Amino acid sequence: MAKDAVQVELRAWSEDDLVLLRLQNTPEMTEHLGGPESEEKLLNRHQRYLNISGQKTGNMFSVVQLPHREKVGSVGYWDSDWQGEEVYETGWSILPLYQNKGLATAAMLQVIGIVKRERKYRSIHAFPAIDNPGSNGVCRKLGFTLDGPCEVEYPKGSMMQSNHWFLEL
Ligand SMILES: CC(C)(COP(=O)(O)OP(=O)(O)OC[C@H]1O[C@@H](n2cnc3c(N)ncnc32)[C@H](O)[C@@H]1OP(=O)(O)O)[C@@H](O)C(=O)NCCC(=O)NCCS
Repeated sequence: MAKDAVQVELRAWSEDDLVLLRLQNTPEMTEHLGGPESEEKLLNRHQRYLNISGQKTGNMFSVVQLPHREKVGSVGYWDSDWQGEEVYETGWSILPLYQNKGLATAAMLQVIGIVKRERKYRSIHAFPAIDNPGSNGVCRKLGFTLDGPCEVEYPKGSMMQSNHWFLEL
């Protein structure tokens, strides 16, 4: 199927999505994210994802590919700040079997639609590792502007060499 013809649905993060987080917590999937997290950190992440929409500080979703409704990954956005301005930050993850088929791009197009309708902040930002071709590819494909390299603390306690990309909403 052509990459721009793939169809996805976003579903609010739910209790069953802990399975998805576990599938995403492998050495391959976390190569550019500091490696797999401990069980305790993973459970904390799951709880944060469950709570974030109730706290009105963002939204996390599972990504479901249509028409067969396979869960293929996750996307989301949350409140952040960039150089003193309140902004949206975003992130994504697609399981290895489904990568490079246009799914992250399709899911993120929906996220961009949601934040445009929400109108809370004027821009959305992403900080993929400099050497993560897939993630930088997603930003480029979505029309984000590449501001340049920067250092971000991720995971907590270690510095990551990232690219700063942003999209004006
Ligand atoms: C990054 C990731 C989410 C990309 O998801 P995806 O569904 O494969 O991305 P898409 O298919 O929508 O690809 C978007 C663009 O990125 C490029 N791209 C995707 N995977 C790539 C790869 N492995 N190598 C080079 N380019 C790649 C594609 O070329 C595509 O552009 P094109 O369609 O014009 O060719 C996925 O690889 C992933 O989950 N990786 C592990 C977790 C991770 O790194 N998360 C991001 C943290 S910031």
